[in-house]
Amino acid sequence: MNTNPTSSNTTIIWDLPTRLFHWGLVAGITTCWISASWLDNAMTLHIWAGYFTLSLLLFRMMWGFVGSETARFSHFLRMPKHVISYASTLTLRQPSKHPGHNPLGGWSVIILLAASLFMAITGLFANDQVSTWGPLAHRVTDDLSDRITDWHRTGFDILTAVIGLHLTAIAFYRFYKQDNLILPMITGKSTAPSMRPMVRVGNLRALLMYVISTGIVAAVVLAG
Ligand code: HEM
Ligand code: HEM
Repeated sequence: MNTNPTSSNTTIIWDLPTRLFHWGLVAGITTCWISASWLDNAMTLHIWAGYFTLSLLLFRMMWGFVGSETARFSHFLRMPKHVISYASTLTLRQPSKHPGHNPLGGWSVIILLAASLFMAITGLFANDQVSTWGPLAHRVTDDLSDRITDWHRTGFDILTAVIGLHLTAIAFYRFYKQDNLILPMITGKSTAPSMRPMVRVGNLRALLMYVISTGIVAAVVLAG
């Protein structure tokens, strides 16, 4: 890891792998939703988009341990006292001076990841009673697969609510706190002048992690 925070990329707060993960996740979940709820006969697309989403989520979990500073769980998962103290400053109309997720946002990331992961895993055991079975649906009884399919449907309502909250929070930061969080998630660069730079690790490590997570998804599918 490059431990020199004053090196060239002084305003980068999100590394490329984290940004690619985020927008890939948005594309994956949106494709899953459209293919299952709006298109006819698009379950093959649904399943492939689901595998893609699962591979991204596995990658993100590994990146949370070995990725750049702001991607690490240890960086953004803070004790309740920090969360409460941050929450008490929420109404101040000023942008954050720290790179990465704030103490409240950190826990919302975990909820987003958990709800997305729940969808991707239950999908593996789901069936549509017609022509589509997740690769592991035959590994459990028909009754259990039907029950997991119900969880998959209810899980999507929960995920939709969590995403709604996520977008509301981003709009709150943009319009109330005058803090544009979206641009940094696209460019990687902070818009705040006083932002401290983060410590980064190389993209090759991310590529290796993604190859491993794709391998895990392939192994699960082939085992089904
Ligand atoms: C994050 C990833 C996923 C999301 C957001 C998602 C979302 C959805 C949604 C919205 C539905 C329609 C539910 C309804 O009918 O009301 C659905 C159905 C379904 N999904 Fe997924 N899904 C995901 C991953 C997967 C995966 C990985 C598989 C299998 C490999 C899968 C298999 C199925 C099946 C078989 C159904 C049909 C169940 C039914 O008849 O309602 N899904 N999914
Ligand atoms: C399917 C919908 C979405 C999901 C599941 C989702 C999920 C996530 C997750 C898991 C993170 C944490 C990133 C990380 O550390 O890896 C995140 C952060 C973020 N997302 Fe989303 N997101 C969604 C849609 C969007 C959209 C549409 C926007 C833009 C309008 C957006 C803007 C952001 C921003 C700005 C952050 C960084 C927040 C911060 O500065 O702490 N997201 N999102």
